[in-house]
Amino acid sequence: MKQLESPTDWLEARKIKTRGREEKRPENVFAGGWTSDTTEVQGVPVTRICAWPRGAEAAPVSFALLEDTATAQLGDGDVEESLSWRKSVEEQLPFNLEWQQSSECRWNFYFNLPAEAKCFGLGERLSGFNLRGRVHTLFNYGDSTHVPNFDPMYKSIPFLIIRHQGRYHGIFLDSPARQRWSLDVELAESASVELLSRRGWTLYMFSNASLPDLLAAYTALTGRSKLPPTWSLGHHQSRWSYPDDKTVLEVAQEFRARKIPCDVITLDIDYMDEYRVFTTSPERFPNFRDTVARLQDMNFRVVTIVDPGVKKDAKYFVYNDGRKHDYFCKKADGKPFYGKVWPGQSVFPDFLRQDVRLWWAALHGFFIENGVNGIWNDMNEPCLLGQGCPLPLEAIELPKEHHQLFIQHSPEGDVGHFEVRNLYGAQMSRATYEGLRALRPDERPFVLTRSGYAGIQRYAAVWLGDNMSWWEHLAISVPMLLNVGLSGVPFCGVDVGGFGDDCSPELLARWYAVGMFYPFFRNHCSKAGAEQEPWAFSPRVEDAIRHFVETRYRLLPYIRALFWEHVRTGAPVVRPMIWDYPEDHFAAEIDDQFLFGRDILVTPVLKRGQTERSVYLPEGLWHPFDGGKALEGGRLHKVSFELDDVPAFVRDGAIIPFVDQIQSTDEYELTPITFRIWGDKAIGLYLDDDGISFEYEEDGYNEWLLRWENGEFKSDLVNFGYIAPQREYYFEHAGRKERVSLSR
Ligand code: GLC
Repeated sequence: MKQLESPTDWLEARKIKTRGREEKRPENVFAGGWTSDTTEVQGVPVTRICAWPRGAEAAPVSFALLEDTATAQLGDGDVEESLSWRKSVEEQLPFNLEWQQSSECRWNFYFNLPAEAKCFGLGERLSGFNLRGRVHTLFNYGDSTHVPNFDPMYKSIPFLIIRHQGRYHGIFLDSPARQRWSLDVELAESASVELLSRRGWTLYMFSNASLPDLLAAYTALTGRSKLPPTWSLGHHQSRWSYPDDKTVLEVAQEFRARKIPCDVITLDIDYMDEYRVFTTSPERFPNFRDTVARLQDMNFRVVTIVDPGVKKDAKYFVYNDGRKHDYFCKKADGKPFYGKVWPGQSVFPDFLRQDVRLWWAALHGFFIENGVNGIWNDMNEPCLLGQGCPLPLEAIELPKEHHQLFIQHSPEGDVGHFEVRNLYGAQMSRATYEGLRALRPDERPFVLTRSGYAGIQRYAAVWLGDNMSWWEHLAISVPMLLNVGLSGVPFCGVDVGGFGDDCSPELLARWYAVGMFYPFFRNHCSKAGAEQEPWAFSPRVEDAIRHFVETRYRLLPYIRALFWEHVRTGAPVVRPMIWDYPEDHFAAEIDDQFLFGRDILVTPVLKRGQTERSVYLPEGLWHPFDGGKALEGGRLHKVSFELDDVPAFVRDGAIIPFVDQIQSTDEYELTPITFRIWGDKAIGLYLDDDGISFEYEEDGYNEWLLRWENGEFKSDLVNFGYIAPQREYYFEHAGRKERVSLSR
């Protein structure tokens, strides 16, 4: 096999210009065309600039926007009918944003960053919540070296939020080519973005909004997630890999025997026949359909991994079929592109093409026939084994097409892969989502992806790749997920317990205490590390984990309502404290606590050996989640959390629906629900739907506003469109529990 080049050899061989020391503004060589117009999206003023280089006629078609049109006419009905853009006279943009072209393949953007301003968003960043003070590279890359200065990551979402004087502004630079955002690295109160592309781009500047309004506007453009199937909100168990069907069934039985709720068993790459996608191993999973059915008999769902690399193997139907139809990416000289992944030399479908997406979508019939419930897309940056980042960080020129790995077919014609790299994983997940949706039209698809671009929320949930079983990675999961949520992606999580290295008992318990509040909640680890199933350590750790997982399940009606809120408003599920307390300057700095919806403030223990931490409670009264005396907000408190304490507080004035204990979401529908009330005057929301179909989009849901006033529980019906199976309802307030019936 040919030795792969190191990034330095690569630069040398191709004589690519690399960054020098001088940081003066380069000369402007722009000679193309551009337009600028404005509109309002969900009440937020938006200026749009489209620019293209000499020789082109327009900016490229966007894959991020809801309707995939270059004109950005929103037509999805459920968000906004259509926008009317007005030509804008050239005026100064917020933060004095300016742009130019400095070479045939390089664009620069400059804007001011006042000292007081903070920056958030930009998708998956290995960073604290405030992104200032470093460079963030957006060029999808799969590597597990997540040390503090590591950059870039698996996903690229070029949407930056700037908080300035209590108001929020957003810059969305819609281009799937490499972007480097320098956010005030020299304390210079200025920022810049460098985009390496020979094509044009579209930039949206959202100005002067509240944070919730800004998210509503951004997700009106790039779309929102649908309601997830309820089972996908349960607890997922995964391992790279459970070696065979026997082990998988044993793990599933263990969950039931130990009464640790769980909904999903995930099958990593070893279920396949020598890593050929859309096959199963005849040795290790000889009766695959039967194994899936046995897991489902135990109320588990099965999610299987699917990578983009298709094994180069003349006896393999996917390879042959794809070759016959010319679906795989080719090099600039027209020869096939081969890259090494788990199956060895592999070819890669061009997911930018609709015919290729349709083909890939249809291949999922294999999983449907086998009863598989959801699909996990991995390695889809795409990641090639043994190779560094395909475009080294230092490069300031874009290599010619024959050095961009392969060519892809965009709506504008053939382009080098680096021009559209950040779309590869997103378009793979889109093919997967659309396949599941077409093949099983009555069920909400569940797709999980590692790579993604702006708008990925329309197709998939995301996890943040190969973290380590380190306390640092537990801690950083909080700000990372906050920024992912503010980038429009509500359904997100990290591997609970950490993927690489050995997890310790204390770390696993503390990680579950946070993980139970991740929107996507999965324990996953590499085969190189020690086992970290909930029972891997001691009864004490197992009991603590059981308590956290049980609590997650009891909160399911509340969690379902949080996803409803996203559908309606674009709000993330995991939110920074400034979401609800915008005036609280102290809250703006905090990224080791987060709001799980409006009513729950999570204050996790993130350090080894720690049993006490200081907690900042915003204004109002806050009740310890597991019970105890309420604390006054607006200040810091020292609070101790035992290993099995849920590290969270409930807002005084909240009514939260809790379902009685279940072991899997199969039991959800018939199980009694109790509305727990905190405080003398409280309000809450209760939503119900079938948790699996799309009927909710056609009014098939029920909604009640709940109130507690003068010692009385009241429910006001807001919508009634779903005939739910009968279940019992109760309210509970200060030790008093009574049965209630909801108004009709
Ligand atoms: C990648 C994924 C990881 C998975 C492994 C094997 O490293 O990020 O989650 O277990 O590949 O498929």
